[in-house]
Amino acid sequence: MPTSKIELKALDTPLKVLFTGYLTTVAIGYVFALIQILFTHGMADGKLGLSIDDIVYSYYGNRSGTLLENKLNGSMKGKATEEENFVIMQWARDGGGQTDYVNHGVKKIIETKCEICHNENASGIPDFGEFSELHETTLEDEGATFSSLTRVSHIHLFGISFIFMFVGLIFSFASTVPSKYKSIAIGMPYAFLAIDILSWWLTKLHPMFAILVMVAGSGMGFSFAFMWLMSVKEMWFMNNPCFSDPDSPCAKRLKAMIEVMSTVMQFFWKITGTQILKLMGIGFKWLYSKMK
Ligand code: HEC
Repeated sequence: MPTSKIELKALDTPLKVLFTGYLTTVAIGYVFALIQILFTHGMADGKLGLSIDDIVYSYYGNRSGTLLENKLNGSMKGKATEEENFVIMQWARDGGGQTDYVNHGVKKIIETKCEICHNENASGIPDFGEFSELHETTLEDEGATFSSLTRVSHIHLFGISFIFMFVGLIFSFASTVPSKYKSIAIGMPYAFLAIDILSWWLTKLHPMFAILVMVAGSGMGFSFAFMWLMSVKEMWFMNNPCFSDPDSPCAKRLKAMIEVMSTVMQFFWKITGTQILKLMGIGFKWLYSKMK
């Protein structure tokens, strides 16, 4: 008995546009998420770029220092001047007492440089208008707190599972990937998501689990990229005379357009000297040579 199956390549254009719009939007969201990770966790050890140390500091904490000090060397580095940071750190090291807070001029620095963000209206970050909340950051840095982990865990589980619901659903209509691999690619992000969240909690207990955070995060990114590329490829590049039939008018137009783009890029590279234009010119030239 013939079974009718939905195939990405055979979909009506409106549905393809809908799917592609969704995929593109979540991909941009993913890029912003990565940038955010780079600037919060990535800066935890004071150096840009995500390392195991960053993950250990974020979840387990940097137990050789105070949170305040670690942040001033990390993601809060540029908020005040070097000298001001030094005054704050000195005060934190000396116990972070309330009289020194006023006398050593720390209060003034915090009020002018930090409370623009760290005020009562801020959610998720301490309010330095309250001395007790500032004082807490002068204790030993034990990484993420129980309440922040609980909050981020449930937001991630609910939010990310929805993203993979739709990315997976769209990808499930792909026809060039065998069913077995399709099932793996669709199931993997959920497994990695669970491992990712679990590994945050484990890293809170012991720093050796930080590697698991990296593995799970990369696995999730990899499955996302795979499903994304396969879906877009099947929707727009398969059975499309533009790409499969070199004699079609569309393919000829495309080829001419790529040639023009390559020339334009080279022209602007020559007059502006911008390297990226040169690279784009080379890219278009390569595309041109690939088209029969
Ligand atoms: C532009 C807004 C902004 C300013 C100004 C700012 N912060 Fe922050 N701060 C944040 C955000 C957002 C976070 C949470 C992300 C992170 O930890 O990097 C944060 C986190 C922190 C944390 C960690 C809190 C926690 O519970 O994990 C400390 C400590 C901190 N800031 C100290 C400071 C100090 C000290 C200053 C002033 C010298 C300052 N911040 C200025 C936005 C700001």
